[in-house]
Amino acid sequence: MAPAKHFLFFLICLFPFLVSVTMTIPKGITMKLIHRHSIHFSSSNSQPNNMSLDLSSQAFGGSMSHLDGTISGCGAPEARPCPKDIQASLWSKAHSSVFFVEFYIKDSSHRVLAVMDTGSRLTWVHCIPCTRCHEADSQIFDPSTSSTYQNVSCRSFYCEETMHHKCSELGNCEYTMFYTGAAPSSGSLSMESFIFGTSDDGLVTVPDVVFGCSHQSHEHPDLVMGVVGLSAKMPSFATQFGGKFSYCVGNIKDHAYEYNQLSFGDAAIFNGDVTPLVVDPSNGFYFLDLEGISLGGTMVNLPTGTFRKRDSWHGGVMIDSGSEDTYLPVEVYYILAEDVRKTVSQLRSQFRGRYGIRRLCFEGNMSTDTEGFPILRFHFPGGAELAMEAESLFIQTETALFCMTLATKSEPLFQHFILGINAQQYNNIGIDPSAKKLYIQRIECDLLLH
Ligand SMILES: *[C@@H]1O[C@H](CO)[C@@H](O)[C@H](O)[C@H]1NC(C)=O
Ligand SMILES: *[C@@H]1O[C@H](CO)[C@@H](O)[C@H](O)[C@H]1NC(C)=O
Ligand SMILES: *[C@@H]1O[C@H](CO)[C@@H](O)[C@H](O)[C@H]1NC(C)=O
Repeated sequence: MAPAKHFLFFLICLFPFLVSVTMTIPKGITMKLIHRHSIHFSSSNSQPNNMSLDLSSQAFGGSMSHLDGTISGCGAPEARPCPKDIQASLWSKAHSSVFFVEFYIKDSSHRVLAVMDTGSRLTWVHCIPCTRCHEADSQIFDPSTSSTYQNVSCRSFYCEETMHHKCSELGNCEYTMFYTGAAPSSGSLSMESFIFGTSDDGLVTVPDVVFGCSHQSHEHPDLVMGVVGLSAKMPSFATQFGGKFSYCVGNIKDHAYEYNQLSFGDAAIFNGDVTPLVVDPSNGFYFLDLEGISLGGTMVNLPTGTFRKRDSWHGGVMIDSGSEDTYLPVEVYYILAEDVRKTVSQLRSQFRGRYGIRRLCFEGNMSTDTEGFPILRFHFPGGAELAMEAESLFIQTETALFCMTLATKSEPLFQHFILGINAQQYNNIGIDPSAKKLYIQRIECDLLLH
């Protein structure tokens, strides 16, 4: 199970906004997204290797030498604007099908790959002291070695906005984040200089970025070095870097593809079909209307009102880059699975489940047995759609068993339709909360760079 699957969303209701702050909107940041490369390929000796680090340091190449200079107070209240064009690489890693954002903390010596998660609010990274960091190969950030590190006071606006915070004896903001299906992560709310790429292969330092210095986390640093929170609630990176953003992701299995990217603010790319976006006011998650699902051009017959959003925690279709798979409500899943089963009728099928997750599986070889399988499409109002070909829709899980990447959960707290990153491959997704619009463009990400 991919560790990053846990970053779906917070469980706990958020504190109401107590403070209202006028933000200077920073101009834009773009980052490449990282395919995480190595971990499970090397798991036979249970020793994670350094391949992922090697791979993306290539992407950054020798560009370390031309730092574009420092922009003071970017993203903070009353801040000066961020640089016009900051770009983060995104990469993926084998058997962990989410994308990882590449950036540096403090200076160019400390590289981080953190899960890109529209279903999280806080950006956090492992910090010393750290409960799970012994025997980690990854370099762990040590705040005591940094002159640009600051603790965030528990009286600050950011602390108020971070749910489940408390004051340390020294008056610092201590946070705890809760996730579905995973242990919480807790640590100190902090500020530090973050270094991002720019589209011309330069680097730019953004000081005073608010993030969580995690001292206690369920995630092993060699698997998950941190999470980049992109929800629409403070202090996510999305809110700190201009509110709107876009990400372009290609084939999630292509760990060497260097054109996946995440762009913020004015650097965000809004092209293609537009569909209404609803930001949930309580959790800041991004919801879409869905008109229907088709398989091979025929609409799947689903009960009316299936996709209706009922409240913050029930119903609706949430777009979640931190979820590998797509999760459907139980009643939708069984209807859809039956249509898929009929289409692959020559194979023996079964439902498989673990931890309350159930999915349809087939005995056979995915690449040969799904040849010519019809395309599954999610249809959004305005003509936008996401298409899943067989290679996105199925995954070979064992030698002679392949399963749908669509699944369902029986958890009572898990009542959303979650559109995972698997369903978003080969698209540029633009999220513009203030315009209440989401853009979907089917495109090769390398075409966006010029
Ligand atoms: C990973 O890289 C670090 C620093 O380059 C090195 O000390 C460590 O031994 C490497 N780990 C593996 C498993 O190769
Ligand atoms: C931040 O707070 C910790 C204690 O929580 C303290 O040890 C450290 O010195 C503080 N750092 C700074 C830069 O104030
Ligand atoms: C599936 O079939 C292809 C083509 O015959 C083969 O290359 C591949 O190794 C098979 N995969 C599995 C898991 O058996």
